[in-house]
Amino acid sequence: MFRYAAFALFFIFGFVSHLSLGAEVKVMDKDDKLCLYANVTVNFSVLYATSDNKSEIATFDLPSEVTSNGSKCSNTTSTLKLNFGAGHSWSVNFTVNGNMYQADSITFSYNLSDSTIFSKSALNDTLSVDVRPHITDVSMNTCYSCMSEETIRSDSVNQTLWNVLIQAFISNGTQSKNLTTCSADLPTTPTASPTTVAPVTNATTSTPTPPTTPAPTLPTPTTGRFNIKPDENSTACLLANFALRIGIELGEKYQEINLDPNVTTASGSCGVNTSELVLVSNALIIVLTFTNDTKKFHLQAVNVTANLSSGVVFSEANSSLSLWEAAVGSSYMCNKEQNYTITGKLTIFTFNLQVQPFAVKKGVFSTAEECQTDSESFLVPIAVGVALLVLILIVLLAYFIGRKRNMSSGYESF
Ligand SMILES: *[C@@H]1O[C@H](CO)[C@@H](O)[C@H](O)[C@H]1NC(C)=O
Ligand SMILES: *[C@@H]1O[C@H](CO)[C@@H](O)[C@H](O)[C@H]1NC(C)=O
Ligand SMILES: *[C@@H]1O[C@H](CO)[C@@H](O)[C@H](O)[C@H]1NC(C)=O
Ligand SMILES: *[C@@H]1O[C@H](CO)[C@@H](O)[C@H](O)[C@H]1NC(C)=O
Ligand SMILES: *[C@@H]1O[C@H](CO)[C@@H](O)[C@H](O)[C@H]1NC(C)=O
Ligand SMILES: *[C@@H]1O[C@H](CO)[C@@H](O)[C@H](O)[C@H]1NC(C)=O
Ligand SMILES: *[C@@H]1O[C@H](CO)[C@@H](O)[C@H](O)[C@H]1NC(C)=O
Ligand SMILES: *[C@@H]1O[C@H](CO)[C@@H](O)[C@H](O)[C@H]1NC(C)=O
Ligand SMILES: *[C@@H]1O[C@H](CO)[C@@H](O)[C@H](O)[C@H]1NC(C)=O
Ligand SMILES: *[C@@H]1O[C@H](CO)[C@@H](O)[C@H](O)[C@H]1NC(C)=O
Ligand SMILES: *[C@@H]1O[C@H](CO)[C@@H](O)[C@H](O)[C@H]1NC(C)=O
Ligand SMILES: *[C@@H]1O[C@H](CO)[C@@H](O)[C@H](O)[C@H]1NC(C)=O
Repeated sequence: MFRYAAFALFFIFGFVSHLSLGAEVKVMDKDDKLCLYANVTVNFSVLYATSDNKSEIATFDLPSEVTSNGSKCSNTTSTLKLNFGAGHSWSVNFTVNGNMYQADSITFSYNLSDSTIFSKSALNDTLSVDVRPHITDVSMNTCYSCMSEETIRSDSVNQTLWNVLIQAFISNGTQSKNLTTCSADLPTTPTASPTTVAPVTNATTSTPTPPTTPAPTLPTPTTGRFNIKPDENSTACLLANFALRIGIELGEKYQEINLDPNVTTASGSCGVNTSELVLVSNALIIVLTFTNDTKKFHLQAVNVTANLSSGVVFSEANSSLSLWEAAVGSSYMCNKEQNYTITGKLTIFTFNLQVQPFAVKKGVFSTAEECQTDSESFLVPIAVGVALLVLILIVLLAYFIGRKRNMSSGYESF
């Protein structure tokens, strides 16, 4: 079933250049349930030193006969290890990141003593290279699918992957029918990150999005309720409901991460002049600082620290903001999606936002002051209503004036 679906996609997108079989493996967990499935096609091109002081390039494919010794699964990290030939291996590490998973690294080890491949090698060691694949933001319980070729280059090894189907973190031993398709397979979104394509039984799953709008590729984040209590037995003193996404720029790469409220812990403090909300999830630490300027409050500072899967720590902060302003004693509300540029490298996106960092009574939100865009949606019908009313008044007035004139002229004619 799954295979058919994959092949259907394969033909829809017209990638008919390689019908190589690839290597298929099923990794079982300790309860002997399927926990990782992979069907991949890889070829390698390896530059190595020869005994006559020159260098040579060896090219070979990942054979379909592989063993999966060394593969393992846990709830948050998994390893796929494919062993082949005379001591060569190709392995991929996966980690869970919120409700997504990703491949963090590919390690390719090759045994230069294998004279069938490295016939002229001067060395007999086993070398390995680590590379980072572009397999990110795969929704949990979906299978990553990428029929297109991706070549990953490193100093002395080029690896080309295609016809890739991988599901890490399979739950209940049942492989998912849903796919997260790589951007290269989606014809109309050239550089976007992967998009989840729902069940593949219909050929219409890849509704082409217009290429001009950089459509959000992540699902809308889930709305969380983050309340801070001054102590265990009190009602909340800071209330915050929102869904949050952060957009970060790292060098030339732009990446978005959704805050997953299910794995987020909220802490913080309520003060007279300053209140703070600290959100900590798997990969993110977000600190929002609110200021009370006597009659009004606003969001003064945002500090985002992200531990990226690459090992890079991203940290950006701005403490001279003036966002989310409302009167002390009321709450600030903005339901529409909003984006705020915090620094040149950090953008935050909010959805269904309501916050009250000061003067919370009985643990519930006070009257909300709505943001411009929300209230605009109310203003339009009001404006239309007022216009109609004025029109009706004018018509009525015209009618009465007309009637009066008629009546008076009626008297005159007698
Ligand atoms: C890897 O690819 C690059 C660019 O195509 C090429 O210059 C280089 O020689 C290749 N290296 C190997 C080992 O094939
Ligand atoms: C290999 O090259 C180095 C310098 O490039 C040279 O010193 C050495 O003699 C060469 N060895 C052989 C066996 O040609
Ligand atoms: C690997 O596959 C790519 C795409 O088909 C091809 O261009 C390249 O020559 C292949 N390399 C080897 C070593 O087979
Ligand atoms: C590397 O290949 C040689 C020759 O085939 C073999 O004897 C050796 O065991 C291999 N090394 C590993 C680590 O498998
Ligand atoms: C590897 O090569 C070194 C010398 O280059 C030699 O001393 C050693 O015995 C070789 N090891 C194997 C396992 O062939
Ligand atoms: C997977 O497909 C099922 C229906 O087959 C659907 O209910 C579910 O929401 C999908 N999950 C994802 C993550 O797309
Ligand atoms: C999807 O397929 C089902 C049957 O497989 C069909 O009933 C439905 O109309 C199809 N939807 C679209 C949008 O083509
Ligand atoms: C909260 O109330 C419980 C029982 O009502 C009490 O045992 C506990 O000491 C109180 N904690 C604080 C911080 O007041
Ligand atoms: C979060 O948890 C709730 C209930 O605990 C569950 O219904 C929901 O699916 C979870 N959401 C995610 C994104 O895991
Ligand atoms: C806000 O600040 C003013 C002046 O500093 C203070 O009087 C007021 O109590 C503060 N409001 C709250 C809710 O802490
Ligand atoms: C932002 O938060 C991180 C960790 O919480 C901290 O190390 C860093 O100093 C903070 N940055 C600023 C400008 O406050
Ligand atoms: C941010 O919002 C503005 C309008 O409020 C919109 O035009 C712009 O495209 C948004 N930017 C992003 C990156 O979503």
